[in-house]
Amino acid sequence: MYLHKELETMSRPEIEKLQLERLQATVKHCMNSPFYKKRFEENNLSPDDIKTLDDLRKIPFTTKQDLRDTYPFGIASVPLEKCTRLHSSSGTTGNPTVILHTEKDLQEWAKAVARCLHMVGLRPGDVFQNSSGYGMFTGGLGFQYGAEHLGMLTVPAAAGNTKRQIKFITDFGTTALHAIPSYASRLYEVMEEMGIDPRKDTKLKTLVIGAEPHSEEQRRRIEEMLGVKAYNSFGMSEMCGPGVAFECTEQNGLHIWEDYYIVEIVDPDTLEPVAEGEVGELVLTTLNREAMPLLRYRTRDLTRVLPGECPCGRHHKRLDRMKGRSDDMIILKGVNIFPIQIETILLQFKELSTDYLITLETKDSNDDMTIDVELNDMFTDDYGRLQSLAKEITRQIKDEILVTPHVRLVSKGSLPKSEGKAVRVKDLRKTF
Ligand code: COA
Ligand code: AMP
Ligand code: ZN
Repeated sequence: MYLHKELETMSRPEIEKLQLERLQATVKHCMNSPFYKKRFEENNLSPDDIKTLDDLRKIPFTTKQDLRDTYPFGIASVPLEKCTRLHSSSGTTGNPTVILHTEKDLQEWAKAVARCLHMVGLRPGDVFQNSSGYGMFTGGLGFQYGAEHLGMLTVPAAAGNTKRQIKFITDFGTTALHAIPSYASRLYEVMEEMGIDPRKDTKLKTLVIGAEPHSEEQRRRIEEMLGVKAYNSFGMSEMCGPGVAFECTEQNGLHIWEDYYIVEIVDPDTLEPVAEGEVGELVLTTLNREAMPLLRYRTRDLTRVLPGECPCGRHHKRLDRMKGRSDDMIILKGVNIFPIQIETILLQFKELSTDYLITLETKDSNDDMTIDVELNDMFTDDYGRLQSLAKEITRQIKDEILVTPHVRLVSKGSLPKSEGKAVRVKDLRKTF
């Protein structure tokens, strides 16, 4: 069943008892993973060394680089024949990251998402529309299976095609919508153009927003525009996808499901735990994953654990909204992008110099990326040649990062030079 009242309202001692049992079982299971077996041997560690929750700190961190180094299946703790799905990050420059799932993992994932949606009042009878990309984006299938598990009528609209998206909302009586915050603004703008008043002409009452950082002001603005309650949803592909942490109706921090994850917040430089309530990097250990458990995974997301109890009665810790990243990952249109992916492509063009600037901007409620890149000394003013060069660069970058940039070729020396480390990314997006 989707209602996990006994799991949601466990006391702290009950949560911690369950966590220790699951942690010990997870660590034992990880010895089936060639990667973890080697890691433990190299560190003279054995699963028997994990006697308390604090012993977790004896285990080294797992990083995105570890996932890349063991591409595609080297971290798995089960044979491939037991897996029924994989999700992969975008990109071909360097190894993408791959996450494997067994059938049981997929069921647990659906249950976790259903628990989140149930927590904010969604029930069978609601119509749930999902504007995430499907395929490899975990926001697609993740919410799809979770919403179905809860028993709602689901509309797998997928990303884009905003007018059709709005027609679905009005015609199918959509009551709950999953959209990233920047896309929620785009939807409102197109509704206005179409003469649709979301408060009067739709049945929308709940929005699930996440996948990119956003402010409290942005949330309130979305709520006001669309006449809904909007709940922050946090997840990441390495932890399955959505369903990791979610706001309850108090809208005051995201409960992280501690029967699924152990939370640590560490200083990203020293990797030591920060003081209680302070901001640091979120580190997560999975507690019920079969195909690919991850121990002490450095998420690179910056947040803190909110102090105090939540009035809703759940004792699972609450994360503050994400404050940023401890690496240079950009999230644009719900897609994760590393500047190095763009740089690698640019470097392949002999016509270009090594200087470029990525600008992120909000134009007409659309978030966009412009890449200004300097031509090398062989500058030409042959418009046709420059146009076809820009087109080819655009195509290759789109293939790599999935979003379409505007590429502008500029003459050598025209980009501002900064002292020391060059500023490669300027983020001018409106956050509300
Ligand atoms: N969700 C839904 N629709 C989105 C979107 C998002 N995150 N980002 C952009 N779109 C819409 C645009 O509004 C546009 O539709 P419209 O012109 O009818 O309004 C359409 O998608 C194409 O966007 P555009 O910006 O022109 O194209 P692009 O090539 O740069 O972007 C996308 C390509 C949209 C396919 C890509 O950004 C994408 O798949 N985003 C979704 C990512 C996602 O779902 N992440 C997981 C969330 S949990
Ligand atoms: P992905 O693996 O594509 O699902 O992307 C996961 C990343 O998206 C996380 O590590 C965060 O950086 C970001 N993210 C997901 N949910 C949120 C959220 N609610 N607020 C801010 N950032 C988020
Ligand atoms: Zn709560």
